[in-house]
Amino acid sequence: MKNWSPESITAQALGWIDAETRAITPPIHVSSTYLRDPDNQYRSGRVYARADNPAFDQAEAVINALEGGHQTLLFASGMAAATAVFQALRPGDHVLAPKVMYWSLRNWLMTFAVSWGLEVELVDMADPAVVQAALRPGKTRLVWVETPANPLWTVTDIAATAKLAHAAGALLAVDSTVSTPVLTQPLALGADLVMHAATKYLNGHSDLIAGTLTTAADNEHWQKVRKVRAQIGGTLGSFEAWLLLRGLRTLHLRVRAACASAQRFAEHFDGHPLVEAVLYPGLPHFPGHEIARRQMQGGFGGMLSLRVKGGEAAAIAVAAHTQLWKRATSLGGTESLIEHRASVEGAGTPAPPDLLRLSVGIEHVDDLIADMEAALQAAVKATQR
Ligand SMILES: Cc1ncc(COP(=O)(O)O)c(C=O)c1O
Repeated sequence: MKNWSPESITAQALGWIDAETRAITPPIHVSSTYLRDPDNQYRSGRVYARADNPAFDQAEAVINALEGGHQTLLFASGMAAATAVFQALRPGDHVLAPKVMYWSLRNWLMTFAVSWGLEVELVDMADPAVVQAALRPGKTRLVWVETPANPLWTVTDIAATAKLAHAAGALLAVDSTVSTPVLTQPLALGADLVMHAATKYLNGHSDLIAGTLTTAADNEHWQKVRKVRAQIGGTLGSFEAWLLLRGLRTLHLRVRAACASAQRFAEHFDGHPLVEAVLYPGLPHFPGHEIARRQMQGGFGGMLSLRVKGGEAAAIAVAAHTQLWKRATSLGGTESLIEHRASVEGAGTPAPPDLLRLSVGIEHVDDLIADMEAALQAAVKATQR
C-alpha cells in the first residue's frame, strides 16, 4: 500500500482501479460459486461465496488498512461478528465482559453463550484493579471491551487492559463501533481483535446491517473465527458489501462532523436548568475524559446521553417532542437519533430511567440544539412540572 493518510485511503477506497474496464468504482460481484480448474484444483482461491466473496475484498482491505490489522472479515451484522469471537472459544473457557455494554450482546452472552458452556463474568471494565482481580491466568481466554460503552459512554483504557489480559494469557477484543478507526486504533494500543457494527459509522447511512472483525495476527483463535463465518454462515450480501464500501469513502468527513457537533451540543446542555446531567467523554468533568483524550484522536465521538430533570416521564416526553431528532434506535447515520434507552433494554439495564441516548448526525448543530431546547420546554408543559 502507498503511504497514504487514512483520509486518502477512505476517499479512494485504497485507489482501486478495475484492471479490465478501468472503472474506479467496483462492480457488484454476485456469484455464489466459482469455476473449478480442469485438473480439479481451485487456483483462483475461491470455491463458494459463503466462505469468501470478491465483493468483500475492497471493504475488508480498507478497514484492515485503517485498523492496521493482519486481516479483516466482513460479517452479516455486528452481532454476527461479535458472537463469532465467542463461538471460536471452547466450552469451559472463562471470559470477562463489561457490565456496561451493547445490551443485545450482553443478553446473548448471559443466555446463549452461558448455556453453550462459556463462563461469562461481567465486571466494571473501567477499573483496572477490578479487571486484574477477575482475571484467572490460564483459564480466562478473552477480555471483551467496548469503549466508549453504550449507553453511559464509560471509557476503558485499552492499553492498560491489554497488558492485564496478556499477562493472564487472554486475548483482548475491542468493540470500537462508537470510536471508529477515525478516532482510535485499538490494535496499536495492544488489542488482539477489533470489532465494528459496520451498520453504524463505517457505512454511515442507516441503510444496511453489517459487521467486521480485524485481527492483529493470524493465530488458532482467528482460524476458528474464519471457520465460524464460513460454516455457520453469518456472511454479508454482495450488495451490502458494495454499499459499505461506498459509505466508507466519506467516513472521515462524517465522523469529524458528528464529533464537532456532539462536543458543542454537550457543552451547550451541560448545566442546563432542565438537564440533570450530560454524559459525554468530551466533557472535562466526565470520568474517563483523560483516558479518552489519550486514546481518541481528533474528537470524542458522536454519541452522548442526556439525563433529563423530571425522571422517566419527562425523558419520554422530550423524545416525543423533538422534530429534527428522530425517535429511532441505532446510531452512526447522517441523521440524528434519540432513544429512551431503558425502554429498549428492559430489566437489568444500567440506563437510568431519565436517560435519552443521542446519536449526533451531520445536520447543522444549531438546528440540533434548537430542536432539543424546544423539546425540553414542551416536555415541561406536557408533564406539568
Ligand atoms: C456498540 C455496538 N456493538 C454492536 C452492535 C450490534 O450491531 P448490529 O446491529 O449490526 O448487529 C451494536 C448495534 O447497535 C452496537 O451499538
